[in-house]
Amino acid sequence: MLELMDFETKHKPRPHVNAFVRLHHGITEEQRVQAAEKAGWNVFQFPSEMLCGGDLLSDSGTTSMTTEQLSALILGDEAYGSNWGYFKLLEAIERNFGLNIDEWEVYIFHQARAAEHALFSHITGENLTIPANSFFDTTRANAEANNIEALDLVSDKIKSDKTHPFKGNIDIDALKEVIVNKGGNIPLVYLTITNNTGGGQPVSMQNIKEVRRICDENSIPFFLDACRFAENAWFIKQREEAYSEKSIADIVREEFSYAEGFTISFKKDGLANMGGALLIRKDSKITNRYPDIFDKLRDHQILVEGHPTYGGLSGRDIMTIAVGLDTVVQERYLNGRIGQVHEFGSYMAELGIPVIEPFGGHAVYIDSDEFFKDTNIKRKDFGGISLTALLLIKGIRLCELGAFAFGVYNPDTGEEKFPPYNFIRAAVPRNKYEIQDLYYVADCIKALYDRRDMIPKAVPVWGREKALRHFKARFELC
Ligand SMILES: Cc1ncc(COP(=O)(O)O)c(C=O)c1O
Repeated sequence: MLELMDFETKHKPRPHVNAFVRLHHGITEEQRVQAAEKAGWNVFQFPSEMLCGGDLLSDSGTTSMTTEQLSALILGDEAYGSNWGYFKLLEAIERNFGLNIDEWEVYIFHQARAAEHALFSHITGENLTIPANSFFDTTRANAEANNIEALDLVSDKIKSDKTHPFKGNIDIDALKEVIVNKGGNIPLVYLTITNNTGGGQPVSMQNIKEVRRICDENSIPFFLDACRFAENAWFIKQREEAYSEKSIADIVREEFSYAEGFTISFKKDGLANMGGALLIRKDSKITNRYPDIFDKLRDHQILVEGHPTYGGLSGRDIMTIAVGLDTVVQERYLNGRIGQVHEFGSYMAELGIPVIEPFGGHAVYIDSDEFFKDTNIKRKDFGGISLTALLLIKGIRLCELGAFAFGVYNPDTGEEKFPPYNFIRAAVPRNKYEIQDLYYVADCIKALYDRRDMIPKAVPVWGREKALRHFKARFELC
């Protein structure tokens, strides 16, 4: 009988079924135009309730929780000190990351940026540089706000390579050179797994191992930004031969075995809606330079977040993270999750939409320069903003991460300084959408791609000169 059934299918079942659904309301396109005008065509200001197409603004904190997480949430213990979930969370971290928790200092925060702020504000000194593959934008902002140079070291060769399996890798030669040039001014080296740039490009285990070795040789602490540790492990299993037979759980444990410390946002691979943490090995080399860092971090945590056993989170949030960590390392879950992102990206590519390949783990990026290449829209016209603004009318929300988000305006000269990339990101929330929803998003983008000649320019009418302007600015489409 089993022989008869031995065939492959084009489509696979999802790794879950819907236990609850959230109904869309009957919102008209006219209502969305009105709301978008009121929001100054800024996607961040647009009411999410009106997005009946697909809200792909971010994969962070937007996960639909499992029934296991929701039932754990009810069990959340809102005690001020040492709530039950705290111990469950420590156990889940031990179990899934392979740590002996007694050997680590654990600081819970309400999200990762608070953990990054705590870390970087206690790394003091002159002319400090932290090399990384790439810093996430708030991570960079936190380092720079503390006078630390945040140095991205992914080679241009890898960036432009459409077939490289590990586009998130740090450039090892460049890292060695920086270590020689900066002498003792490197308080730590940081690897972001997966590398958010390009939609979650993976870092190979070989790269992680090599960085740890170089750090040890030079007595530099090695830290991870581990937000998408499980998605990264999935890519290692798929693409790094030595790991093809290993379980995701083992690969995850190996990833963490090289880290002396890490920051993490549980809003990604914690499958939770809120939460972050900073963990540092008690014997980390970071204590050579900063002997009292643990006391200082603990005081900081109590000052800004609360008691160390809840750290800015409710007991309910903590329970959902503890359960989420057990789910996220399951291969069945990751096959469905990353498979969906890739199916979405491949469909866009099939439609001829210029997307960045290979696809990463959590998002598909559209190349805005390519999209508008043969039109009158130039970078200064912020076509990516126009595209995301128009998609709101169809109930879809994407995020421009390019000329406007990362450009800088000089009000004295009226000039814009543009970043190297000009992308529009479609980030896929975990466990939330069915592929049919994502096909709809792609079809709408394709329709606008076919009419790209008619897409208006986006003119900033407020906030062009502000820092982090994409969150706040207002536009007119003309
Ligand atoms: C790689 C990376 N690091 C850090 C963060 C910050 O996490 P949080 O939103 O919890 O502050 C993010 C969020 O998107 C991220 O993608």
